[in-house]
Amino acid sequence: MNAPDRRVIVALDLPDAEAAEHLLAKLLPRKPFIKVGYQLFYAVGPAWVARKKEAGFPVFLDLKLHDIPNTVKKGVESLGRLGVDLLTLHASGGSAMMEAAREAAEKTASGTHRTRLLAVTQLTSTDREMLNDELGIPGTVGEHVLRLARLAQRSGVDGVVCSGHEVRRIKEVTGSGFLAVTPGIRPAGTDAGDQKRIMTPSLAIKEGADFLVVGRPVTGAADPAAAYEAILREISHTDTRSGHA
Ligand code: C5P
Repeated sequence: MNAPDRRVIVALDLPDAEAAEHLLAKLLPRKPFIKVGYQLFYAVGPAWVARKKEAGFPVFLDLKLHDIPNTVKKGVESLGRLGVDLLTLHASGGSAMMEAAREAAEKTASGTHRTRLLAVTQLTSTDREMLNDELGIPGTVGEHVLRLARLAQRSGVDGVVCSGHEVRRIKEVTGSGFLAVTPGIRPAGTDAGDQKRIMTPSLAIKEGADFLVVGRPVTGAADPAAAYEAILREISHTDTRSGHA
């Protein structure tokens, strides 16, 4: 099983390099696993990400790729060359798109390192009414999430991003080796913010999550280092359900 500090991913939902560096300086000497999403990536660009990798930070690039297979393949080749550890794409792009992404990730692998691909199944902002009436997809959101998780697995994707409430069911249908990366994490007593289906770090790990994504409980804390260390301590005392990451 990975060490706690390799399982907790700090979401750097920050506007620019200065804000990101300021936060990371507070966490020193730790080099946390960092998640870079649209906001920061579009501000700092790939060179900043490559420098973070060189400095020893594991990186999750949350860019949710979705396009025709060839375009996604070329995008993954560029991002794979940065050496990022995790990268998201939309499962609704279909099997050919996901297979092309996997091919590109293999092509840019170096030694034992390969960018692992994570599928976004259905965004948590989607409710049943939107799924059925706007997107024209019948059934429940939960059924659709499972269908897309299975499709992602068959297409060579390494795991999914999902809520802690979905991990158990997803692992039941995909097996424990398929990664579950879980946002919506809130240590007991912290503010939920706009997250609705939240879970504590230890419960998410017990449910089988391989990685936890934590943003505001760390980045918005009065003492980010203390908040981060408390999460690491909490999960280090938790038995995992699947027993590995
Ligand atoms: O600040 P907070 O802990 O809520 O941040 C969670 C992070 O996880 C954000 O970067 C958010 O975009 C991401 N995320 C999420 N829910 C999803 C997918 C991603 O909160 N379903």
